[in-house]
Amino acid sequence: MPSVVVVGTQWGDEGKGKIVDLLAERADYIVRFQGGNNAGHTLVINGRKHILHLIPSGIFHEGKTCLIGNGVVVDPAVLLSEIDRLQESGLPVPPGKLYLSEKAHLIMPYHKAIDLGRESLRGKTRIGTTGRGIGPCYEDKIARRGIRVSDLLDPELFGQKLKEILEEKNFYLQKYLGRDPLSYEEVYETYLRYGERLAPYVANISEILDQARREGKNILFEGAQGTQLDIDHGTYPFVTSSNTVAGNACAGAGVGPTSIDYVLGIAKAYTTRVGEGPFPTELRDATGDHLRECGGEYGSTTGRPRRCGWLDGVILREAARLNGLSGLAITKLDVLSGLTEIRFCEAYELEGRRLSSLPARVSEIYRVKPLYRSFRGWQEDLSNCRRLEDLPSAAREYLHFIEDYTGVPVVMVSTGPSRDQNILIRDPFRA
Ligand code: IMP
Repeated sequence: MPSVVVVGTQWGDEGKGKIVDLLAERADYIVRFQGGNNAGHTLVINGRKHILHLIPSGIFHEGKTCLIGNGVVVDPAVLLSEIDRLQESGLPVPPGKLYLSEKAHLIMPYHKAIDLGRESLRGKTRIGTTGRGIGPCYEDKIARRGIRVSDLLDPELFGQKLKEILEEKNFYLQKYLGRDPLSYEEVYETYLRYGERLAPYVANISEILDQARREGKNILFEGAQGTQLDIDHGTYPFVTSSNTVAGNACAGAGVGPTSIDYVLGIAKAYTTRVGEGPFPTELRDATGDHLRECGGEYGSTTGRPRRCGWLDGVILREAARLNGLSGLAITKLDVLSGLTEIRFCEAYELEGRRLSSLPARVSEIYRVKPLYRSFRGWQEDLSNCRRLEDLPSAAREYLHFIEDYTGVPVVMVSTGPSRDQNILIRDPFRA
């Protein structure tokens, strides 16, 4: 009855969606515990591309229950349109297949307006957010003036809360950000309708998970974003507004730390980042372009081209420590085919000092110089490799080095976008 947490080890977009989809076959419950529709999980199923922003990727599997935990910030319009789109493509999402925590906070129209308004005001110093209102929603949660899913189910209470907060938000929007105010009636009516549609999905997720564990079910916690985007441990302030590390699966879903059995970290065979912020191994050259084109590195949420660079061992080690990783899944190894040399950053140099972890201040991270170890590349196409032995020896050497360097075993390798393009070395649910 194991519980497995899957987290990104880099700046998000590590290919978690595909790995979660694979592991979902072995799970009974799939749970989101943080983030919101800033995430985008791309899955290719039977040659068809699906992108999910809120609903756990496990939804594509028969007989699974998908849960959205209290730690997630939920844009009800996005959740409902995701339900509708799945329904249209022949995949009904009835209550019972999907549950939404009554304690999850709602992304309101003013959160989006504030997110966008602040970013444009910041100009060059912008964070490069996804513009989905994530940060402003978490701010209200922490400031104890957020609106939660359960509030929507009580029209009177919802109306009161909205009236009070909208007064303040409209003042800020107009006077500080120079934006249009929002109409109370419009927001109230629209959200009440959302509430009516969402009501049958609303539940106590902590209780559902407790019951599931007692029944010996397999539970999969699906992290969004990546360790370096964590609000505490990432490259602050160029981070998202939630804790993305594995420990937050507990607080964000309502389970205790003793109920987590395995933590799987997902790492791309190279590194990418969207938005602003330091990125020590970034390649602003033809190799970076090669990785972007071969890896299809364009954001699934915003369509922005991703910044690309070599694999950064320093942040991988940091991810191993911060998440307590039990195993690593290396994704997109196939994208490195065709390169004559592959580089791996094993430390940084800053003003003549060798660093083996990231400085806390971004001003320093911007100035570190990556110290690389060089590996020979390979020319073979990996898309049909299904066992470790099928990989060219140069690719195996690279993987072994990652294991030695991080001290974490590589248990899965992804060699293409489809469900079946994988090498499964050890099953996290049977570890
Ligand atoms: P926010 O989460 O929209 O506030 O954006 C904050 C930072 O996190 C920006 O640099 C975004 O590009 C980044 N970010 C947020 N979600 C994701 C994701 O799912 N993948 C990669 N980057 C993300």
